[in-house]
Amino acid sequence: MSGTKTDKIRKHYDTVADTYDSHYDHHRGRKYHTHLSGHLMKALPEGGNLLDIGCGTGLFVEKYIKNGGCGTGLDISEGMVAKARRRCPDCEFLVGTGEKLPFDDCSFNAVSSVLVFSYVRDPVAMLSEVHRVLEPGGSVALLTLGKKLITRGIPSLYKIGEKIKIKHVVMKDFGEHYYDEKEMYSLFDNTGFAEVDVKWCSFAHIDMIDPIFSLATKVEPFVEKRVPQLAYNIFVSAKKE
Ligand SMILES: C[S@@+](CC[C@H](N)C(=O)[O-])C[C@H]1O[C@@H](n2cnc3c(N)ncnc32)[C@H](O)[C@@H]1O
Repeated sequence: MSGTKTDKIRKHYDTVADTYDSHYDHHRGRKYHTHLSGHLMKALPEGGNLLDIGCGTGLFVEKYIKNGGCGTGLDISEGMVAKARRRCPDCEFLVGTGEKLPFDDCSFNAVSSVLVFSYVRDPVAMLSEVHRVLEPGGSVALLTLGKKLITRGIPSLYKIGEKIKIKHVVMKDFGEHYYDEKEMYSLFDNTGFAEVDVKWCSFAHIDMIDPIFSLATKVEPFVEKRVPQLAYNIFVSAKKE
């Protein structure tokens, strides 16, 4: 596995923190993020005590606490954390890495992570930490770009994007790792999680042009259920026994 470039990731998100939300602040962006969040929400206890790893500007924490409960976010980028604090002033947000969580054992009953895991240099360390900070019976839900034919070209595309200086909130060569079902299952299973469920989701993408995005959202539920080979995000939910 190629190592992700953590300092580069941190600096990048510090730089884009002010514009990150504009990526999600139009109807495609809102629909895309709400769709992803829906998958996580179903797998987490409603009104629980949530930790969101790689919380960014607090988009998921904001959605989660609408149903009650409380949220804590952690992110390596100080810029993103500052934005999250403004979005959810009643929640706690900390700067730090998912690989070493600054929380006591059994502190949360829900842990989430949205579009972050492929950046994490040491996935085993992060999952061990998630397991440690979860209460027995607590749930984890994690969603990240998966390893598929359609995602295979992304690292090269990002390298080219970086060379020609495309301004895009995620388009950079960070050495991400894309996971398949087997890898995800064994990572969670080896960490001691129970009820590990791995599935594919997302067919519509925020960067599609409007008519295609709209068509893709219509067929998305069918694709996720019947033709998961065409979905590109991998979603894992599991429990601590
Ligand atoms: C694509 S953004 C997703 C942000 C947010 N989860 C969302 O859904 O909008 C990826 C985020 O992961 C953070 N990140 C990357 N590696 C991390 C790590 N090892 N620990 C914590 N946060 C990390 C980045 O700083 C960035 O804010």
